[in-house]
Formats: sequence, C-alpha cells, structure tokens
Amino acid sequence: MPELSEALKKLKASSTVAFNTKAKELQRSGVDVVAMTAGEPDFAPPEHVLAAAHEAIDKGLTKYTPAEGTAELREAVCEKFRRENGLSYTPAQISVGTGGKQVLYNGFMAVLNPGDEVIVPAPYWVSYPAQVQLAGGVTVAVPTRPEDGFVPSVEAVREAITPRTKVIVLNSPSNPTGAVYPPEVVRGIAELAAEHDLWLFSDDLYEHLVYEGEFVSGAAFAPEHTLIIHGASKAYALTGWRIGYGAGPERLIKAMSKLQGQVTSNANAIAQYAVTAALNEVEKTAAFIAMTKRAYVARRDRLVEGLNRLGLHTPKPQGAFYVMSDLTPIHPDETEAATLLLEKAHVAVVPGTDFEAPGQARFSYATSMENIEKALERLGAFVGASV
Ligand SMILES: Cc1ncc(COP(=O)(O)O)c(C=O)c1O
Repeated sequence: MPELSEALKKLKASSTVAFNTKAKELQRSGVDVVAMTAGEPDFAPPEHVLAAAHEAIDKGLTKYTPAEGTAELREAVCEKFRRENGLSYTPAQISVGTGGKQVLYNGFMAVLNPGDEVIVPAPYWVSYPAQVQLAGGVTVAVPTRPEDGFVPSVEAVREAITPRTKVIVLNSPSNPTGAVYPPEVVRGIAELAAEHDLWLFSDDLYEHLVYEGEFVSGAAFAPEHTLIIHGASKAYALTGWRIGYGAGPERLIKAMSKLQGQVTSNANAIAQYAVTAALNEVEKTAAFIAMTKRAYVARRDRLVEGLNRLGLHTPKPQGAFYVMSDLTPIHPDETEAATLLLEKAHVAVVPGTDFEAPGQARFSYATSMENIEKALERLGAFVGASV
C-alpha cells in the first residue's frame, strides 16, 4: 500500500474519543457503563432554535452561503459581542466555521510558520497541540497546579515567551479543568501578548457556563492582537450542528476565510440560520442558558463533594462542565486508573495523559444527576474495595 504522510503518521488520535469508543464497545457488549467522557451538553437544543432550523428548510435556505458565513449570522455575532461583552466588531471581522474547532484550526494555519511556538497553559484541551503540530508549530506548555485552581500565573507565561513565540492560547472557562481565570490574570496575559506583539487566541467557547467568578475575554484588553474563538456548541447545546465563529482583526479574519473557502467553504446553511435565531432571540436563549446552568451547578456540587469524600482529591471549578480528579489513590498511572474504573466500576472518564495532567482524569458532568449518583455509588464500592 502507498505510504501516508509523515504529518498524519505523527498526529495523535483524540484520547477523549478513544475512551468514549472503549465505553461504547463495553455498552454494546451489554455492560451498563456510566459515561462521563463526553464534552457535550446532554440537553436538547432550545425549542426556538429547532423551529428556526425547520423554517430554514421550509424557506429553501439550503444553498451555499458565503464562505465566511451569512451576513445575518455575522451581524448577529457582532451584536452578541456588543451586548454581552462590550466589544465592537464589524461583520468583516467575523468568520463562521464548522465549529469552534475549525475556526481555531483556520487561526493556527493563518499565523504559524514552521517552528513557531504556541504557549498553552496545561492541563489543556487535546486539540490545541494536535492543531499546532499540523500547522507546523510547536506547543510550549505552561503547567498550572490544582492548588492554584489550575489558573496560570502571568509570570510563568512571561517566562515561557521566546523569540519564536507567535501565539498565546487562553481558554477560560477551561476544558479540561473548568478553571475561570480572574480578570486580572486575563488582563495580564493579554497585555503580555500586546507588549511582545503576539497573537492571543482567546478560546471563549464556555463563556456562558460560568457559575462563580466573572467571565472576561482576552479581547477586552488586547483587541488588535486577539482572535476570539467562539461558537454555539456548548451554550446552546448545538454540538452536532457545527457552528463556530471567530472574531478578530480584519486581516487575520480574511486570511482564515480564504483558507476555509478552499477547504470546506461555508458551514452548514440551515445551522447558520438556526444559530442566528439563537443569538437574536435573546430572552428565550437566556432562559435556556439559565436552566442549564442551574442543573450544571447542582451536578458539579454533588460530583465534587462525592469524589472528595471518596478520597479522590477534586478542586471545585467555577465553570464549564468538567472536573479534574486525582486518581493516584487508585493507581499512580492515570491511564491504568481510568482503565480500572472503566473495566471494574463501569464508569468511563478521560485519563489526563493527553491533557498533560499526570495522575488525574477528567470527569464530565454534562450528564444526568441520576448518572452522577450511579457513578459515585460504583466508585465508592470500587475504591472501598481496592484502596
Ligand atoms: C476548549 C474547547 N474549545 C473549542 C471547542 C470546539 O467546539 P466546537 O467545535 O463544537 O465548536 C471545544 C469542544 O470540545 C473545547 O472544549
């Protein structure tokens, strides 16, 4: 068989997907597995968004749109940033993609040359290093600690800057830690980017899932240097609809849209129409978000309390729908520990290996309270028997 490319041979498959697949295989073989691996809301999308999708089909809005997104959606995104964040963008500064993931990839492809460095606080979302690698860059991790709530120090980020640094990634609330960075940390990191003339990629996907503390985008402090990566997946429970948006300086956005125009063209037209409704029907969408937040807070509190009671140290995060838990009482190696949990307790979590979180695992609480109770009960029985 002919050879594959070196770039693809080096690319790692997502560990989140790998453990999800393992859990699904067990489920198919008849085992009742509590899956706490997924990074997606378990809620159905809001009714008014579903209605808008039907309307798009009925109106025949099913053709190609401009690669960068419909004018209506880009206007609605500008309005969202003005209303919710006090940020001023024009539609020419917005690029709509197939999920925040594509927007992020477009961004890395648009700014990185071979060997350029990208600073990323760790534990980090697994797609950052993978995308950086594909774009020819090198990830430089800045470790954070559970005792600091996984918030990086501005000083540590400053020390990681070298003449090769091109981008700093900021992700608050964070996947996988749930950390919400205090405004002064966001400001400090954004000012570093401006001072050293670096790009700041502010991954704001989890903006609406902040339970304590205050959300602020890096763009508030360094707008000329910032690409916001945002989207509809997490806040509106629209993961499969694949709509993300980037906001930033026009020159960067143009380059990203040019790339997307040659690779995938526009994001799904029907989903663009529906997300326009999610952004414009402000009150209905706010009520949906408030309902999901109440549920997430109750689930987080129960999960964190339960895991700590079992002796698995778990800081209480302020946002997103993940917790990082110390699995070393089960096994010093996190992959072994997660495998034991899956095979013996039938609870699926993602080991921290690919997040650069040794000894830890990510539990997603985007699942029902009933599942959380079931998982804690099983973990209790397992930990009680083995520690
Ligand atoms: C930190 C972070 N950024 C971006 C994304 C991309 O989400 P989507 O492509 O569904 O918009 C995710 C999804 O898991 C994420 O966790």
